[in-house]
Amino acid sequence: MNYNFIAPYYHSLSKFIFLNRQHQAHFLILKHLKKGDKILWVGGGAGKFIPELEKLNLNLEIDYIDFSSRMIDLAKKERTLKLKINFIVADIFDFETDKKYDVVISSFLFDHFDQDKAEKLFLQLNEYMKSKGIWFYIDFNQNQEDWQRIVTNLMFVFFRVVINLEINQLPKMRDFFESYFEIVEQKFFFKKYIESIVYKKI
Ligand SMILES: C[S@@+](CC[C@H](N)C(=O)[O-])C[C@H]1O[C@@H](n2cnc3c(N)ncnc32)[C@H](O)[C@@H]1O
Repeated sequence: MNYNFIAPYYHSLSKFIFLNRQHQAHFLILKHLKKGDKILWVGGGAGKFIPELEKLNLNLEIDYIDFSSRMIDLAKKERTLKLKINFIVADIFDFETDKKYDVVISSFLFDHFDQDKAEKLFLQLNEYMKSKGIWFYIDFNQNQEDWQRIVTNLMFVFFRVVINLEINQLPKMRDFFESYFEIVEQKFFFKKYIESIVYKKI
């Protein structure tokens, strides 16, 4: 699986297909961030949301991980003065740290993995979080209407060709999250196709 080929076009494509709702779904987190928060941002992609965090002026410290070097190159172009961002090109499954983060951000990340891998990733990231930490999760709603299932299947076909995506079903993360986290706030977008959830570690 590799995003390097599609990296320069990904954001425009997402804007066009989902009428910018994937990007808009990120804004929910802004009011939940606190001064000096340490953030682990996984699969951040081209970094189009970085300027919104910069505007907060909260001296956030971010470990920004993506396994696509081209995505990281694009994200680095977002100029920041008040954020301390450590850009890391790595597969998150190989990323090890002793740090404990206040916040984890994963947007449209879990939709790349089968159930086993998604659960493994959940447990790994949960381990890196402080108690009472915030996990900001955005992804496609797992309970889909017929038209949404059709779009999801078309996306699977497209991404199978473009990035060599291997799954044909979205992982079901909701129950898993709810055994470890409580929902602080949630919002749906694109006729409930996209969910944006602020979870707090119990
Ligand atoms: C669908 S894009 C979403 C990008 C961004 N989060 C957004 O919402 O615009 C998924 C991103 O996750 C990255 N990614 C997927 N699997 C990954 C992994 N195992 N480790 C690190 N990054 C990964 C991809 O390279 C890509 O940039």
